[in-house]
Amino acid sequence: MQPDDELCLCFHVTKRKVVNYLRIERPQTASQLSECGGAGTGCGWCRPILEKLFDAQRQREDLETLDLPDSTQHAAGRGEHIRTGKGKPPA
Ligand code: FES
Repeated sequence: MQPDDELCLCFHVTKRKVVNYLRIERPQTASQLSECGGAGTGCGWCRPILEKLFDAQRQREDLETLDLPDSTQHAAGRGEHIRTGKGKPPA
């Protein structure tokens, strides 16, 4: 996943935006990332990645080099997630 790829596809929040939010706002819980453009509050597909980035920030890992799915895999996975009724995109 590249910095300008959408991490939260429901709300078009890029990885760069989330990484900057983590660095600047230093949220205390992963759920506070919802304050970053609504990330994670739609279908829920991106939440594991948001949690992974949050945990990495807490462990002071390099967020730029963190192993994340590429954007094509990520989008395809979300499609399946929604098709199988595991999450609902925003209206
Ligand atoms: S992709 Fe982030 S909530 Fe749906």
